[in-house]
Amino acid sequence: MYSKEELLDGLDTKLVGKKLFLFDSIDSTNTCAKTLADADMEEGAVVFADYQTEGKGRLGRSWVSEQGKNLLFSCIFRPSINKELSGLLTFFAAVSAALALESVTKKTVECKWPNDLLIGGKKCCGILLENSFAQDKIAYSVIGIGVNVNQKKFDSNLNSTATSLRQEAGKELDRKKVLQAMLQELDMQYKNAATGKFDSILKEWNKRCTMFGRTTSVAREGSTITGKAIGLSPDGGLMLETASGKETVYAGDVTVVS
Ligand code: BTN
Repeated sequence: MYSKEELLDGLDTKLVGKKLFLFDSIDSTNTCAKTLADADMEEGAVVFADYQTEGKGRLGRSWVSEQGKNLLFSCIFRPSINKELSGLLTFFAAVSAALALESVTKKTVECKWPNDLLIGGKKCCGILLENSFAQDKIAYSVIGIGVNVNQKKFDSNLNSTATSLRQEAGKELDRKKVLQAMLQELDMQYKNAATGKFDSILKEWNKRCTMFGRTTSVAREGSTITGKAIGLSPDGGLMLETASGKETVYAGDVTVVS
């Protein structure tokens, strides 16, 4: 495990990572960050772990990651934006992570709605956004990021869909460099996201999204909706052109069919 000094050495951020909590093992960095945020921890604080016993993914799934090989961290933000725009924070996280991963791997990173990052069509990074609201405002937003950095093998059920930076770049990567690139980009992009300016973030996300124009299925509780993905709605939903007209979805398990 890295020391705090090692991880922060050379990091030049204004906000993100100014407070850092490190764990060899933890239940979930998101759960820990939410507890800290509930106790008024300042924004920019980062929780980093080498291993999670109860790593959380989207849609109630678990996030499994080999000990000491990857990146597992969560960051607390307190943006001054209305509740209705909270869904757009996911694109802030995805674009920050995509820019960081492109700079360290020199590979093209694709964005899959809502917040998966892929290289060569396989997922290398997942993001879990957990918001807490106070009336119509965001009290805090915890952004949890898992990056497969140096893991070489995945469970057989993930083999065809998951990858790591090592597998794509063909060489082991320095986890500290990847983390610092991520924190640096989050720090930079947050200047806009903090006050609800999402235009440039959405432009970068749209540029990397490979779903538009393709037939896409979104499985939601009890039903699946299929249509051509045609873009994002102003509040970050995925717009589909279906046989019965245009529909916008806000959550679900997404498969690009053809
Ligand atoms: C997904 O793709 O389903 C989202 C995965 C998010 C995983 C990260 S790992 C660090 C942080 N802590 C968690 O428990 N989950 C997120």
